[in-house]
Amino acid sequence: MTEAAVNEEQIELWNGLGGSAWVDAQETLDRMFAGFEPILAEAVPEGHSGRVLDVGCGTGATALAVARRLGPGGACVGLDVSEPMLALAQRRAAETGLPARFQHGDAQTHAFEADAFDAIVSRFGVMFFSDSVAAFANLRRAAKPGAPLRMAAWRHPKENGFMTAAVRAAAPHLPGRPSFDPDAPGQFAFADGDKVRAILRDAGWDRVSVEPIDVACRFSAVDLDLYLTRLGPLGRLAEDLDEDTKQRALAAAREGLAPYVEGDAVRYTAACWLMEARA
Ligand SMILES: C[S@@+](CC[C@H](N)C(=O)[O-])C[C@H]1O[C@@H](n2cnc3c(N)ncnc32)[C@H](O)[C@@H]1O
Repeated sequence: MTEAAVNEEQIELWNGLGGSAWVDAQETLDRMFAGFEPILAEAVPEGHSGRVLDVGCGTGATALAVARRLGPGGACVGLDVSEPMLALAQRRAAETGLPARFQHGDAQTHAFEADAFDAIVSRFGVMFFSDSVAAFANLRRAAKPGAPLRMAAWRHPKENGFMTAAVRAAAPHLPGRPSFDPDAPGQFAFADGDKVRAILRDAGWDRVSVEPIDVACRFSAVDLDLYLTRLGPLGRLAEDLDEDTKQRALAAAREGLAPYVEGDAVRYTAACWLMEARA
């Protein structure tokens, strides 16, 4: 299959509204998810001179965090389907002079060179494949034998109250609610740890470990509306509402997230999986 034949809906999303929201909110998101950087970058020893792949690298935070640890000769390659997110990642690498470069491609189908990477990392970039076993088999071929895989993905929405509170609060004003389909590509596609273990094993990875991690996240309360209208699920649900209803939904959503606001900061705990394996 060609790259264009799979993952079309996700590719459209990440090159459209999803991608532009993540580009516009890059600083907010990177501050919010800063706690994941050391956890993932640890896949690579300080001063490492090998090649590392960041899957679904987006605007580049994890690839840049890895690149900061690398020694002479080391390089981190970020792969993503989103042109606007890659363009920002590329600019950030150029500005910092870090050994990170970015490549356009679908991790599920990209024709990687075999045995090319000494480690593979990802922060929230692997839950969007139409065929996750095929994608992870493709990534395993790209990894050198024994190379570590280290990634983060969301656990169940029930454990991630911050991610659901806004929509729950705004529900009376909304025409529909996002239904959680655990098998559809999306934020919570890896919510079931047993399913993730099976995907990695079926794709040929060894020493599979999928363990819960709870990571403290924080962003400025000034950015709460940005989160609600562009990044959270509310933004898309409210798209077709008239302005009055939209404002009522937004006010209710703000109220729903009030328990997470402390002074000038919004704080919550991200209930995630740390997924590890060896090629
Ligand atoms: C939730 S964002 C995370 C971005 C980045 N890793 C971060 O933490 O800031 C998901 C990313 O996965 C990318 N993505 C989705 N499907 C992909 C695929 N099949 N191959 C490569 N990247 C993909 C999206 O374009 C997007 O950049």
